[in-house]
Amino acid sequence: MQLEDSLREVLAQKELVVEKFYSRFLSENPQVAVFFEGMDMKKQSLMLSAALIVSESHFRENLPAVEFYLQVLGTQHHEAGIPKELFPIFRDCLIATISQCQESWSDELADMWRAAIDKAIATMFEGYDEASDAG
Ligand code: HEM
Repeated sequence: MQLEDSLREVLAQKELVVEKFYSRFLSENPQVAVFFEGMDMKKQSLMLSAALIVSESHFRENLPAVEFYLQVLGTQHHEAGIPKELFPIFRDCLIATISQCQESWSDELADMWRAAIDKAIATMFEGYDEASDAG
């Protein structure tokens, strides 16, 4: 199974998979709640679903517009004051959530998701670091 097929399963669910992700992320990491105070979590979940589509594309090929989007997303996270250390926790929790909505899950699929999200994070960090350098 390719990452694209796994992503399709995520997007085909009637209930937004990433909405489950946020409840899990927040309950397992109470220290992150402060960042989401007053936010519309439905909207947030829709944006993260779109970011998964972007990340899968970015995993397959390097397209300048996609890279630029992820860099800007990274800058936004810097502006929101989100520490870099939270990203691997976010990634692992996201993969754990995705694994629960799949017909067949495997170590290979987990590795592919990890590589895809890590690549997205690395590109986000380019924008994040640029914002840090700018002060
Ligand atoms: C793979 C890593 C991540 C991805 C793909 C991602 C994706 C997104 C997206 C698509 C948005 C919406 C941006 C917009 O308003 O247009 C967003 C915003 C946000 N994300 Fe993330 N995120 C990631 C990591 C994290 C982490 C680790 C945290 C930790 C708490 C976090 C917290 C937030 C918050 C608080 C916002 C709202 C920021 C604001 O509007 O001020 N994200 N994220």
